[in-house]
Amino acid sequence: AGASALVPAERLAGVFRGQPSVAPEVPKFAVPLTVPPELRPRRLPERLDYYDVTMKEATAEILPGLKTPVWTYNGSFPGPTIRARAGRPVVVRQRNLLPEEAAVHLHGGNVPSGSDGMPGDEIPRNGSRYYFYPNAQPAATLWYHDHIHHQEAVRTYRGLAGLYLISDKAEDALGLPHGPYDVPLVIQDRFFNADGSFRLPGPGEFAGDVTLVNGRPHPVLEVERRPYRFRLLNASSFDGLLALSLSNGDAVQVIAGDGGLLPAPVPVRSVPLAPAERVEVVIDFSRYPIGTQIVLRNSLTIFGTAPEVMRFDVTRPASSGYHPLPAKLVPVRRLKESSARVRREFTLNLDPVTGKMVINGKEFDPERVDIEPRLGDTEIWTIVNAEKPALPIPHVFHTHLVRFQILDRNGQPPEPIEAGWKDSVNIEAGGWVRIIMKFGDFPGRYLYHCHLLGHADLGMMGQMNVRRRRHAKGRLS
Ligand code: C2O
Ligand code: CU
Repeated sequence: AGASALVPAERLAGVFRGQPSVAPEVPKFAVPLTVPPELRPRRLPERLDYYDVTMKEATAEILPGLKTPVWTYNGSFPGPTIRARAGRPVVVRQRNLLPEEAAVHLHGGNVPSGSDGMPGDEIPRNGSRYYFYPNAQPAATLWYHDHIHHQEAVRTYRGLAGLYLISDKAEDALGLPHGPYDVPLVIQDRFFNADGSFRLPGPGEFAGDVTLVNGRPHPVLEVERRPYRFRLLNASSFDGLLALSLSNGDAVQVIAGDGGLLPAPVPVRSVPLAPAERVEVVIDFSRYPIGTQIVLRNSLTIFGTAPEVMRFDVTRPASSGYHPLPAKLVPVRRLKESSARVRREFTLNLDPVTGKMVINGKEFDPERVDIEPRLGDTEIWTIVNAEKPALPIPHVFHTHLVRFQILDRNGQPPEPIEAGWKDSVNIEAGGWVRIIMKFGDFPGRYLYHCHLLGHADLGMMGQMNVRRRRHAKGRLS
């Protein structure tokens, strides 16, 4: 049993309108891909971008002819995309018209603690909160989602997730595909009831049998004969781990991971994408004649996700010129093991007695501080997935605030596509990774947790209080 079997029954009951019933037939490749709307900033004289967002209930037509109740940012499913620029701060005023409190977390964001969506910083019903995002970090594909404790999985499943893209000069200089050729693909698994409402996974179910891309079921994208940049985000709430490939067996060029661009494109035939991870790829459709159809496939179906994700149909010639993909992208400065002052170990497992998901034997307690890194320090963390092969539960370790680099996985150096900056890392049962990070800009409280959000719900989360150096011996704030 994985996460979904462990969702307490009381949370399954009555959460969604409509009774569990025969799932509707969902035809493959029958609807066009759409792209989430981009939010318009209200530019203020203070050299920042200001956005107003309202969280509210809405309905979305996800399956043709059926209405799905969703929880949204600004009424859109998935949420609207925010495009930010490195060095130019963003302020988002989130107004909460949902029937419950809410908290917004910018996943991958180097942000002050008060803007991180911590427990204790919830926005009450009918309340609002200003989130400050400095964007003091390089170009990367980030995302935002709800973070109310014990409900992370259900809240994001209902629809509370959207993209936040940061660009910068180094990225501009590369001439990567942009505009209509820079396409986000937000991938999420879902189960549906016959009336079109979402159904949560039941006992023995791990990930939904319908794959949504940008909120559309198994869609089709018509493409020109030219290179495209795709920003893949796995925004699945439960155990929707994926391994993606093209049906014709061709390689794609991986250009970026969670935290930004890689030093050079990496050609691969299979792209692993665990929940919360981002991978950016360039696919060059100029290689194929008009009329070619290529399915984006998923070979990791043991959790229940569908084998087909979406399809690319090559329908027309390139309508404008484009640059070839550069051989070098953006250098990634490796953090040195010898610079680490502190080493820590985190063991993740399902406690077979309590049914809780724990880190170092403890379930999350918002009143407890688990670790106290210091600003300016480099740390090495060993993350152990202590599940037994008999119950092969994966865990996806995610740190708020800091990006990290993978030093090794089960003693081996990371694959090139994982050799850049990361904030989420998948660890299979019985495996371990060592990661290195430097605490840079902001002191205060932040979370780290498993990003199979059903596991976080069940306690697999810890809290750090990043201390300023001069407070090293002082009391906690
Ligand atoms: Cu997507 Cu606590 O994070
Ligand atoms: Cu987990």
